[in-house]
Amino acid sequence: MKSFEDVFGRAPDLTAEAPGRVNLLGEHTDYNDGFVLPTAIPQRTRVSLARSAQPHSTVYAQELDEVSRFTLDAPPPEQFARYVWGCLKVLQARGVEPPPLELHVASDVPMGVGLSSSASLEVAVLRAVRALLGAAVDDVEIAQLAQRAEIEHAGVHCGIMDQMASSLADTSRALFLDTRSLERRLVELPTGCAVLVLDSGITRSLAGSKYNERRSECEQAARALGVASLRDVGDAAAVEGLPEPLRRRARHVVTENARVLRAIEGVSAEEFGRLMNDSHASLRDDYEVSIPPLDELVRLLQQQPGVHGARLTGAGFGGACVALCDAARIDTVAPPVLEAYARAGQRGRVLVGGVGGGQR
Ligand code: GLA
Repeated sequence: MKSFEDVFGRAPDLTAEAPGRVNLLGEHTDYNDGFVLPTAIPQRTRVSLARSAQPHSTVYAQELDEVSRFTLDAPPPEQFARYVWGCLKVLQARGVEPPPLELHVASDVPMGVGLSSSASLEVAVLRAVRALLGAAVDDVEIAQLAQRAEIEHAGVHCGIMDQMASSLADTSRALFLDTRSLERRLVELPTGCAVLVLDSGITRSLAGSKYNERRSECEQAARALGVASLRDVGDAAAVEGLPEPLRRRARHVVTENARVLRAIEGVSAEEFGRLMNDSHASLRDDYEVSIPPLDELVRLLQQQPGVHGARLTGAGFGGACVALCDAARIDTVAPPVLEAYARAGQRGRVLVGGVGGGQR
C-alpha cells in the first residue's frame, strides 16, 4: 500500500473524499426523470492531490497499484485514470482550468457490485480540485459534472442518482431525490431499522449493454404514450395498451415511482419492506434485469427473521442485494443467508453490515 508520500516524495496539498451509495428504492427511474431513494455507505474514495511541476498529470491508484500519466489533450488508456481525466475535462469545459496535478486515489468502495465506486471517485476528484482552486461549484453541480464525466468520458449513459447520492447523501438517512427538479430531502428510515448489503458474487456482465437497451425501451414507451418521459405517466393503467416489452418496462417505472413516493410517507418497517419486495418482483418480471442467483439471494433474505424486505440494488444482472433489517438483529441475518446461498452453489459476502439510523 503506497501512500501519497511514497509515490510523490512529499505531502499532498489536500485530501477530499466521497462515499459510495446503496439504493433502497427507485431503480431504473432516474433516467426517466423519476424518484430515487439511495443512502450513502461507509466505504469511501479518498483523493489526495498536489500541483505538479511537470507539464502532465500523474495519478496513482492505491488498490490497483497502477500509475497513469496524461495531459488534458488525450484520454489515458488506463480505465481508472479515464474517470479522473473525464472529471478534469468537464471542469475545463465549465471554465475551471485544472493545472497539472499529482493525484493519489485510495478507495474501499467495492468495485463492480453496484455501489457506485465510479461516482465516488468522480465526486472525490471534483471535490479535491474544487478545494485546490477555490472554485465556486456547489454540491449539486459537482454531481452534475460527475454525471457528465461518466456519460461523455466513461461511456455509460447513466442517470444522476449515483452522483447526487455520493455528493449529498449521508449514512444515517436516505436521500429522497426528484431526478427531474433535483429537489431533495433527507428522510429517516423506519424506526429501529438498518440496511444490510450482500454481494451476490456474480459480476455484472450485461449491465452496460442491457442498461442502454432498457433506457431506449423507456424512451420508446414515452414516445408512444406522448409524454416527455415515463415520469409523466401517473396511472399504471395507461401503459397497458403498449406493445410488449414496452408495456412491462413502462409498468416497472410507473409502479417503482409510486413505491418511492409511498415509502417516504413515513410508512412502517413492514410496509417499507413490502415495497422493497415488490420492487424486486417488478425488476425481475417487468424490467427483466435480475438473474437467478440474485433472485435466490433475495428470496433467502426475505425469508430470514429480522428482515423486513429485500431486493437487488443498482443496475442489475449481478452485483449486490439490499435488505431492510431490524437493527437489533442485523448481525444474525447474513450468516444463515450466506450459508444457504453457498449450499445453492454460490459465494456471497457482506458488503455493508448496517447503515441507517432508523431514528424516526
Ligand atoms: C446505475 C446508474 C444509475 C441508475 C441505476 C439503476 O447505477 O448509474 O444512474 O440508473 O443504475 O437504477
